[in-house]
Amino acid sequence: MNLSAETEEKVMFDDIASMLRTFEEKRENLMPILQEIQEKYRYLAPPALEMVAKRLGLSSCDVYGVATFYNQFRFNPPGKHQIKVCLGTACHVRGGDIILENFERKLEIQAGQTTPDREFSIDRVACVGCCALAPVAIVDDTVYGHMAPSKVEGVILGFEIEKERKEREKQDSESQE
Ligand code: FES
Repeated sequence: MNLSAETEEKVMFDDIASMLRTFEEKRENLMPILQEIQEKYRYLAPPALEMVAKRLGLSSCDVYGVATFYNQFRFNPPGKHQIKVCLGTACHVRGGDIILENFERKLEIQAGQTTPDREFSIDRVACVGCCALAPVAIVDDTVYGHMAPSKVEGVILGFEIEKERKEREKQDSESQE
């Protein structure tokens, strides 16, 4: 983890600690707390779940059990580029699961996970409302319709090239200073 990710986590945990102080020690506060953390930080870090358990006087198992029961929660920080692969019925019958597998293989992570450099995360999603384009993947705000396994490599490559370009620009502008 780089230093800025560590600093970001520290800020997040400090913020969660003060947020937790505003909730009474009642079990019925568990879902509102988890939702608030997820909404603000877009994931529930394991230490945050421990903090919630301690605040509410529950066991960590209880809190993990509730959090993992609902698929609205994620447990890894979302990547800079969020890949969502639709596995709704129309996409599933047109090979959405194969598209998902290809993204997973290419990035060497599973759905619900984030690459170690936090560049990409993959999630499976239900119907996103454009079944005519099935199978569909969404990366950030771009919808990729009629996806094919052979297009996966190109989608990732596009982001990697863009990242390299930005890094080169940054280095150029730093060397001119
Ligand atoms: S099932 Fe994938 S867009 Fe509807």
